[in-house]
Amino acid sequence: MGNEKIIILVDGPYLVQGGIRLSEKIIRKKDGGYVLEEGRALPQREKYSLCRCGHSKNPPFCDGQHSDCAFDGQETASMDAFADRADKLEGPDLILMDDHRCALARFCHRKSGSAWELVKKSDDAFLKSEAIRAAVECPAGRLVAADKNGRDYEDQGEAEIIILQDPEKMVSAGIFVKGRIEIISASGKSYEIRERLTLCRCGKSTNKPFCDAKHIKENFCDGFEKV
Ligand code: FES
Repeated sequence: MGNEKIIILVDGPYLVQGGIRLSEKIIRKKDGGYVLEEGRALPQREKYSLCRCGHSKNPPFCDGQHSDCAFDGQETASMDAFADRADKLEGPDLILMDDHRCALARFCHRKSGSAWELVKKSDDAFLKSEAIRAAVECPAGRLVAADKNGRDYEDQGEAEIIILQDPEKMVSAGIFVKGRIEIISASGKSYEIRERLTLCRCGKSTNKPFCDAKHIKENFCDGFEKV
């Protein structure tokens, strides 16, 4: 922990520093919910550049195509803290915070119900644990579950970057960033450090640098076999 960083370059890639583990994972439906299944092995390096424009011929890495495609990577997302942006839904034994920054990964939907439905039934111990799971497994960090004193149930995971694939939607998805990695805007300012968030890599998000699920509408595919 310490020097892990993602630096956003003007109209260019994400420069990753600090030897952050890189993997590919596949969103799969399982037992009425969703899991992340191991994907192809990716090379591990101390520093690497991940494509942000969606046009690299060597995905997930940048190969310079952003210059040829005149990528407009302007960041438009709010830099305000999650707690200030989030709506709060209070259930009997749980609070759900929701900033609506959705990557459409669907982990908030479990066999027992959606995160929002489950929070309303959080006086039941099982449904409360399901609500917490539906929140903490959301790669976008859209949802945070907290107890009535406001203490959140975030997992404190190791720093990791996961390239998401979504064969159920026949697309390649965003970049899941785990474990409190600092993200520095092209302006030089840092975004709020979060346990979980998903970055755009199709180049089409209207909430850059974060994923807004546009990869689905845009049929973004990085060459991953859609099975
Ligand atoms: S950001 Fe460089 S090729 Fe996409």
